[in-house]
Amino acid sequence: AAARKMIVGNWKMFGTAPMLAEITAIAAAPAGNAKLAICPPFTLIERAARAAQGSALAIGAQDVHAADKGAHTGCISTAMLIDSGATLVIVGHSERRADNFETDAQVKAKATAAVTAGLEAIVCIGETEAQRDNGQTLTVIETQLAGSLPDAADRLVVAYEPVWAIGTGRTPTEPQVAEVHAAIRAHLEKRFGAPGAATPILYGGSVKPENAANLLGLPNVDGALVGGASLTAASFLAIAAAV
Ligand code: G3H
Repeated sequence: AAARKMIVGNWKMFGTAPMLAEITAIAAAPAGNAKLAICPPFTLIERAARAAQGSALAIGAQDVHAADKGAHTGCISTAMLIDSGATLVIVGHSERRADNFETDAQVKAKATAAVTAGLEAIVCIGETEAQRDNGQTLTVIETQLAGSLPDAADRLVVAYEPVWAIGTGRTPTEPQVAEVHAAIRAHLEKRFGAPGAATPILYGGSVKPENAANLLGLPNVDGALVGGASLTAASFLAIAAAV
């Protein structure tokens, strides 16, 4: 497992200039035990990176195009992210898989482009409620891992986010989280060897200050990917303090 836990905020499609105050507050907080990152919308990345400059807070993006450049109207490349001050990027979030029909192959191409460019890539996977009810969770996870991860573990982070736990206030039981994280770890070790043993595996889905300590204490849970509770510095820092 990773040495230091990682707490990553995904702001999704929230945030204009006034929200930069939250970045400033997170950047100014005393350094705790966790590595912290916030992924605001593209439009705030450069200003967020400036607000976080000189602090340990990293700034990331929520998506990236797999190509270096080209005729892809509305898309953003790895070089553009790096130029804006991002050091990490989330790829394959279930909302992008659902809203933008992203496939495992596309997610793999994006993750590969990101890590090749020097960004950390947080590759998201997770089952739907119907898949869990049908007993398909571990096979879905295995298929997504096989298809979405780059061919090496460098700068790779995996995030397990059960789709039914995102924004719902519901979380899997602790044994359910531990079971999936153990399966992810086994896949990473088998595929990548020692680097796979050290690849951080984040849990995401209704992480809040009240449940963070228990979730982050589970085996193979190396951090959290936080949506709603990352939108204020107070709740994000309360989660970070649970590490
Ligand atoms: O990327 C973050 C997740 O989708 C979790 O969102 O914390 O609002 O449930 P949530």
